[in-house]
Amino acid sequence: MTRHQSQLEFQSGEDFAIAMDERDPLKHYRERFFSPKTANGDGVYLCGHSLGLQPKTTARYIEQELKDWAELGVEGHFGAKNPWMPYHRLLTEQTARLVGAKPLEVVVMNSLTVNLHLMMVSFYRPTKERHKIVVERGAFPSDQYAVQSQIRFHGFDPADSLIELTPRPGESCLLDDDIDALIEREGDAIALIMLGGVNYATGQAFDMARITRSGHAQGCVVGFDLAHAAGNLQLKLHDWGPDFAVWCSYKYLNGGPGCAAGCFVHERHARAWDLPRFAGWWGHDERSRFEMGPKFQPMPGADGWQLSNPSIVSLAVLRASMDIFHEAGMERLRAKSVSLTGYLEFLLSQNASANFSIITPQDKERRGAQISIRVRQNGRVLCERLAREGIVGDWREPDTFRVAPVPLYNSYRDVFRFVHRFAAAIG
Ligand SMILES: Cc1ncc(COP(=O)(O)O)c(C=O)c1O
Repeated sequence: MTRHQSQLEFQSGEDFAIAMDERDPLKHYRERFFSPKTANGDGVYLCGHSLGLQPKTTARYIEQELKDWAELGVEGHFGAKNPWMPYHRLLTEQTARLVGAKPLEVVVMNSLTVNLHLMMVSFYRPTKERHKIVVERGAFPSDQYAVQSQIRFHGFDPADSLIELTPRPGESCLLDDDIDALIEREGDAIALIMLGGVNYATGQAFDMARITRSGHAQGCVVGFDLAHAAGNLQLKLHDWGPDFAVWCSYKYLNGGPGCAAGCFVHERHARAWDLPRFAGWWGHDERSRFEMGPKFQPMPGADGWQLSNPSIVSLAVLRASMDIFHEAGMERLRAKSVSLTGYLEFLLSQNASANFSIITPQDKERRGAQISIRVRQNGRVLCERLAREGIVGDWREPDTFRVAPVPLYNSYRDVFRFVHRFAAAIG
């Protein structure tokens, strides 16, 4: 949809926002989250791309586990209301549905960067001829550090082995054709293509199916960091076919700071016992795990990449949010998200100024909830001023203000109030 077409749906007055909220079939979900307190009690939280809000049910999920621990001690592994031994499996079905995978293909464990390393241990197998990793220029720093350290770990030099996909001069986002062209040109030398599903800085969503097809056609392994895509876009990982994907669950998935992360390994690798991997007892075949034998036999599927028994409290927090996602349904959430983000873009364009521009793609297929606004001058000061007024987005140096209306708990009125104050502040 072009910017022009999407604008036809929207109107600029506050009454339009109020009417849209009234009609919103998901409006009740807002009441199920805590909103951070602001000095004037009139804040707008548009920062779910950084840290999602806390569901009001979260404490109850944690308390259940604390109660069982207090009352049962070690017996809780098997005797808790939700036994801790197989606890992570309570998240499997919902996680699979969320990312469009089979249950065998997903597991919740560790944190994002740890999972990325575990995946690269198995899926980045450089040779003298094929040793390069493709990332976006300006990928999230942790991803850059992780891929560089893997390259060095294998005895290569990032100066030779790292390819950064760079937008054309004057552009902020990458073109699909340019990604394809690079994969075709360098294909023989590329061991791994590792991109964000949604770029954290620009909000650009990549065509993961197309990138996977192009990469596989050249014999490359393909993986995605879905930190900004999980719970934001409708994903079809199994059908799209990447070899692996990783994501965190504290952004759109509302799992709270540092919550357990997700990992996808495509079914085609489910029984690839000869793949090198770092092993731990929780990845061992559960039928013989407690025989405590010396020989590691991994579980089939993503479960076989687990290392340690997980933090039950962390998983309990995530369950509170995943139950809400399951109820609301990703399809309905995405439909609202497209409309809400389109409305944000519309209002910003109605308040156009030489002092800012939107760098996120206009095409709804090429973005999720996030809009990144390039501010020409004094952006940090502006962002801090808005934060004092309770308008929470986030600032990325050197010039980007990122905001995301999250369909679970943001309203059209939130968006209206944000743009109203942003426009007043930026002049
Ligand atoms: C795109 C991306 N990758 C990696 C990370 C690092 O995640 P973690 O600290 O959970 O490993 C983040 C964190 O915000 C991120 O946004």
